[in-house]
Amino acid sequence: MAGSMSFGTRVRMLLVPLLLWQIPAAVASSSSTAAETYDYIVVGGGTAGLALSTRLSQLLPNRSIAVLEAGPAAPHSTNILIPGLKGSNLQGPHDWNLTTVPQARLDGRSVTQPRGRVLGGSTALNLMVWDRAAAAEYDVWAQPAFGDDAGWGWESLYDAMLRAENFTRPEEAGVYGDEGVAYGGPVQTVINRYVPEQQLAFVPTMVNLGAPLNLESLDGNPLGAGRQPSTLRPSDYSRSYATAYLPLAGSNVDVLTEATVATVLFEDEKNSDGELVASGVTLADGSVIKARAEVILSAGSLKSPQILESSGIGNSSILSAAGIQTLLELPGVGENLQDHVKVQSVYRLKANYSSFDRIRYDAAYAAQQLDLWYLNETSAYDYTGSTIAFLTWSQVAGANTSFVPSLLNSTAVHSAIDKAKLSFLNESTNAPALELLFSDGYFGAASYPAANSSLYGANFFTLIAGVQHLFSTGSVHVDAAAPSPATAAPRIDPRYLEHPYDAAALREAAKYLRRVAATPPLNTFVEAEYEPGLEVQTDEQWDEYVRQAVSTLFHPTGTCAMMDRAIGGVVDGRLRVHGTANLRVVDASVIPVQISAHIQTAVYGIAERAARLVAGS
Ligand SMILES: Cc1cc2nc3c(=O)[nH]c(=O)nc-3n(C[C@H](O)[C@H](O)[C@H](O)COP(=O)(O)OP(=O)(O)OC[C@H]3O[C@@H](n4cnc5c(N)ncnc54)[C@H](O)[C@@H]3O)c2cc1C
Ligand SMILES: *[C@@H]1O[C@H](CO)[C@@H](O)[C@H](O)[C@H]1NC(C)=O
Ligand SMILES: *[C@@H]1O[C@H](CO)[C@@H](O)[C@H](O)[C@H]1NC(C)=O
Ligand SMILES: *[C@@H]1O[C@H](CO)[C@@H](O)[C@H](O)[C@H]1NC(C)=O
Ligand SMILES: *[C@@H]1O[C@H](CO)[C@@H](O)[C@H](O)[C@H]1NC(C)=O
Ligand SMILES: *[C@@H]1O[C@H](CO)[C@@H](O)[C@H](O)[C@H]1NC(C)=O
Ligand SMILES: *[C@@H]1O[C@H](CO)[C@@H](O)[C@H](O)[C@H]1NC(C)=O
Ligand SMILES: *[C@@H]1O[C@H](CO)[C@@H](O)[C@H](O)[C@H]1NC(C)=O
Ligand SMILES: *[C@@H]1O[C@H](CO)[C@@H](O)[C@H](O)[C@H]1NC(C)=O
Ligand SMILES: *[C@@H]1O[C@H](CO)[C@@H](O)[C@H](O)[C@H]1NC(C)=O
Ligand SMILES: *[C@@H]1O[C@H](CO)[C@@H](O)[C@H](O)[C@H]1NC(C)=O
Repeated sequence: MAGSMSFGTRVRMLLVPLLLWQIPAAVASSSSTAAETYDYIVVGGGTAGLALSTRLSQLLPNRSIAVLEAGPAAPHSTNILIPGLKGSNLQGPHDWNLTTVPQARLDGRSVTQPRGRVLGGSTALNLMVWDRAAAAEYDVWAQPAFGDDAGWGWESLYDAMLRAENFTRPEEAGVYGDEGVAYGGPVQTVINRYVPEQQLAFVPTMVNLGAPLNLESLDGNPLGAGRQPSTLRPSDYSRSYATAYLPLAGSNVDVLTEATVATVLFEDEKNSDGELVASGVTLADGSVIKARAEVILSAGSLKSPQILESSGIGNSSILSAAGIQTLLELPGVGENLQDHVKVQSVYRLKANYSSFDRIRYDAAYAAQQLDLWYLNETSAYDYTGSTIAFLTWSQVAGANTSFVPSLLNSTAVHSAIDKAKLSFLNESTNAPALELLFSDGYFGAASYPAANSSLYGANFFTLIAGVQHLFSTGSVHVDAAAPSPATAAPRIDPRYLEHPYDAAALREAAKYLRRVAATPPLNTFVEAEYEPGLEVQTDEQWDEYVRQAVSTLFHPTGTCAMMDRAIGGVVDGRLRVHGTANLRVVDASVIPVQISAHIQTAVYGIAERAARLVAGS
């Protein structure tokens, strides 16, 4: 084992140049090197922020752009770059470590909310799934209640999403078709070359349960089961994330890391239309950077609302409680928080199979696999989930979905957002209600068996179910109780499972996982159900398990919704904050209605479109 470790060290030293990224000269690690004034200030060097500022620099080569990122650059972090180490990023050095307030329907449990605090934002931490929702879900954004006449909808957003990507076709035939992928963009995507044997059984199992095989699931019709792309560079199987845009940026972009923005500054006088005019930002250290043209917030769904509120834009009763003077009454700020939640079951593999868990308990194997990764040979450290099924309720064999028609008939649905979600329960839209993800190894609600337990050394796989259109709606606001609300952690209350549909849907989803694991060919790998365990049988027991096991699927959206001001919107169809002349939000928070997908493709697409909206105005 020692020999293998030292070999690994040598190999790693030899191969380090593979990981030496092109770091653009303009990335500086201190705001002290910043100019006093730029044309555009982009707050947040995350997913949307880097895509937007890069495209803006290409479209406006003679205008200056500053990107202000709270975290460091960390271009060589192996925890970020090596896919198999992705779990180490949660509560790791580049996580904001946010958490919800205690959730009433989860027996008072709080749920962690990982968010990237590093150049690249949450794409540096995410699980690298690359997928898309149904076309109808993006078309809703063009309705008058949402983006109205600013050109949103599937056609334009699909085009924008495709500009982000460079797909490398697998050599293996029959794993992905032609539609739904694109070439030439900065973010590299592949169909993962490493798939555990038990994971290969998942798609045929879903087909046996009646799901269609879908080899073009990113083309606007995601229904069915298949292997999906992951954001990995084919050249070395390292993570490809938002920093991949930066080499395309012109010298007119300054990326300043470790620069935390506290507030947006405004001119003393409103313009002739009675709108606030943004003039720059203040940083947490008190320094000021001025903007001649625009300030654009790309701080993400859990931070952009906090910056607006700290700057005097929001619900005045929330602001005054936090000691903030209201400049602009806009009560939608921080409201309409919509997240995906997941529940999972864990299965123990038969003794003659192993899983990703082996990396936990077999150090020699882990070292050998890590060496293979550094040699760019197929390795367990390549692993990303990436085998997925998206289903309507009627495709969920045997589920008791009596709660769906009662909701469709409900007279209690008033909001434009909920009406859109209801429309997606009509299966003619092709919108999935449920996502199932295969995740190799233990990924349950408790923890892998302890070193002194008899199950230490066992191998597991996890089936994850995510309900796609949930009706519980939450909020994120400045924490009035914090000494400095502008920079403290925000108060996040997703109100998980408060709507009865959500609780019933999660229960049926959890029950279905047992059925999947009992269906061939997947069942031939299963020794026993480990979580929740066969003692859970009645609906009441399943409800209790869901309360204990449910957690975020990491997709908060809607907190600066692109929506009509009269119904709680924060930005208009051109992503301008209502009531301001030149302050925009460009990130996941503008998504008005949660989509049935992992959301990074949509965020890149929003940023690609936003660059053209900004440059064109
Ligand atoms: C653990 C995890 C797993 C996920 N898995 C997937 C997946 O597999 N597939 C998928 O499609 N999506 C996934 N997602 C979701 C997806 O990655 C995010 O939704 C998306 O990256 C959000 O982009 P954004 O631009 O809105 O925000 P972010 O990318 O989070 O960017 C916000 C940036 O702003 C910075 N910032 C915040 N406040 C300030 C401030 N005051 N001053 C300066 N800078 C600031 C942050 O540090 C950050 O860099 C996952 C997310 C997480 C956290
Ligand atoms: C940009 O500036 C250069 C000179 O610095 C000038 O030649 C060019 O015409 C300008 N381009 C645009 C699009 O304004
Ligand atoms: C989050 O927690 C990790 C582990 O304790 C720590 O290294 C990191 O600095 C924390 N992040 C922030 C923003 O404080
Ligand atoms: C796209 O990927 C191919 C390899 O599949 C590579 O040759 C090409 O350079 C990539 N293009 C971009 C723009 O990254
Ligand atoms: C890494 O491996 C992939 C095949 O999985 C190959 O396409 C690529 O060229 C390799 N990269 C290098 C630098 O050899
Ligand atoms: C503003 O916030 C207060 C306190 O949370 C709340 O009672 C009120 O309904 C909010 N106003 C609007 C218009 O949302
Ligand atoms: C594993 O063992 C089971 C019986 O427990 C057997 O059916 C299966 O074929 C074995 N698989 C392999 C790969 O040996
Ligand atoms: C379906 O669930 C409802 C409660 O949600 C229950 O009243 C009904 O009896 C169930 N039907 C079946 C067939 O289990
Ligand atoms: C709505 O309720 C009516 C009356 O109870 C019933 O006839 C109808 O089938 C319901 N519609 C749906 C979609 O379930
Ligand atoms: C579902 O949509 C189709 C097509 O738009 C429509 O004909 C049908 O009435 C809808 N069903 C329900 C229950 O609303
Ligand atoms: C295993 O070790 C933990 C501490 O690491 C201890 O709390 C626990 O009681 C031990 N369990 C057994 C079965 O020895």
